[in-house]
Amino acid sequence: MVLISFRTVPSEGILFLKEGIMASLLLARRVACSSQKNFCLFTPGSRCISQAAAKIDIEFDYDGPLMKTEVPGPRSQNAEAVHFFCNYEESRGNYLVDVDGNRMLDLYSQISSVPIGYNHPALAKLIQQPQNASTFINRPALGILPPENFVDKLRESLMSVAPKGLSQLITMACGSCSNENAFKTIFMWYRSPGCPDYSILSFMGAFHGRTMGCLATTHSKAIHKIDIPSFDWPIAPFPRLKYPLEEFVKDNQQEEARCLEEVEDLIVKYRKKKRTVAGIIVEPIQSEGGDNHASDDFFRKLRDIARKHGCAFLVDEVQTGGGCTGKFWAHEHWGLDDPADVMSFSKKMMTGGFFHKEEFRPNAPYRIFNTWLGDPSKNLLLAEVINIIKREDLLNNVTHAGKTLLTGLLDLQARYPQFISRARGRGTFCSFDTPDESVRNKLILTARNKGVVLGGCGDKSIRFRPTLVFRDHHAHLFLNIFSDILADFK
Ligand SMILES: Cc1ncc(COP(=O)(O)O)c(C=O)c1O
Repeated sequence: MVLISFRTVPSEGILFLKEGIMASLLLARRVACSSQKNFCLFTPGSRCISQAAAKIDIEFDYDGPLMKTEVPGPRSQNAEAVHFFCNYEESRGNYLVDVDGNRMLDLYSQISSVPIGYNHPALAKLIQQPQNASTFINRPALGILPPENFVDKLRESLMSVAPKGLSQLITMACGSCSNENAFKTIFMWYRSPGCPDYSILSFMGAFHGRTMGCLATTHSKAIHKIDIPSFDWPIAPFPRLKYPLEEFVKDNQQEEARCLEEVEDLIVKYRKKKRTVAGIIVEPIQSEGGDNHASDDFFRKLRDIARKHGCAFLVDEVQTGGGCTGKFWAHEHWGLDDPADVMSFSKKMMTGGFFHKEEFRPNAPYRIFNTWLGDPSKNLLLAEVINIIKREDLLNNVTHAGKTLLTGLLDLQARYPQFISRARGRGTFCSFDTPDESVRNKLILTARNKGVVLGGCGDKSIRFRPTLVFRDHHAHLFLNIFSDILADFK
């Protein structure tokens, strides 16, 4: 089914460089035109407008980008990793506003960590309620002095979305410390006396964080690891699928079988070396490493291998969790009754942490511990976020908007194969490859100056990590802007 149709119009590249009123007028013109006859157009160089781009009836969203300067602008200081400075007071919904007043459609959402958009009114209301004030003011040492209602609050929030079979929960501050402590939990579960040389098996291209233990399992970019000593832990190849998937069924099956075989070989080899694999860690979609997907069947077989060899199976849902693939947890797509022994989360969940099975409970207090162990104020916000996800059926929204986005990307890929390949995605967790790193980076910068924030990953991929309130019309808006960019791109 074609979800998007394109219509030729005279160049509207100016749309996002003019003042807001002009943007609104032109958007209104698009609405007026959208009822006219539409047709699909695949000619490179033409301006293409998606008919549904102009819907603006969102309670707390802006109606489109509004660019006043280049980004970073004069008020932003451009320092090393910093892209630009932001005005979070003015940011709303899917739109991030910078210090120069540029308003951008944010499809990267703070490295995939904004669940329901900027300044959601329901969250603003929550923090204004007097009975919540002490939760925001006082940050307790949760492991020893939790607030009276903390367990109830966890039941309302995290426990209400606990993955199948994982009844135990520990909250943490970030993704890295969640994985770091998940590794320790696995080693304690595997236990034998002393400090045995156990290992965690990870995959090439994986990203699990930057702390010492996590870094030993992170293999996405050399820069993360330079100068840091590491463990001799096994690293298995992760499938490199060929696209379009339906044309390479056999090749991809063979590729996945090769990787699984290597996993088993490594487990055996490391057992002989006396560095027994206590656990396997895997992302349902390798994210920082380049949005590398594998089939549900691959993960089902990997899960079986872990069970067969007595290794704990740790699923890292730090980036894939919280609804962006159309299921609350990406591993739900595998359709397993026993999908994991341990599962870590952070980002869209507003707090870090991990779920685990009962038998992974440490046998003494303080073995898994730190001062804060998360933050009850984030948990309060998360409970409301989860309410909204359920009430507004946002998982369905993600599936729908994701389909629109991916269909549009496939159309752009057909029209501009010199710039776009391997368009892929699940929910709004979409991406595509560009020819090389410099083209990728230039596309991201050009898009930013046209009012769209995108993210890179791997060597040459562009990834989409919008909020869960990213809707069809945002997808169309992006596709229009990007279509214009590609038409002029050199
Ligand atoms: C899959 C995955 N695991 C772990 C992490 C580390 O999380 P944090 O940056 O919160 O330490 C990330 C961060 O991007 C991630 O994508």
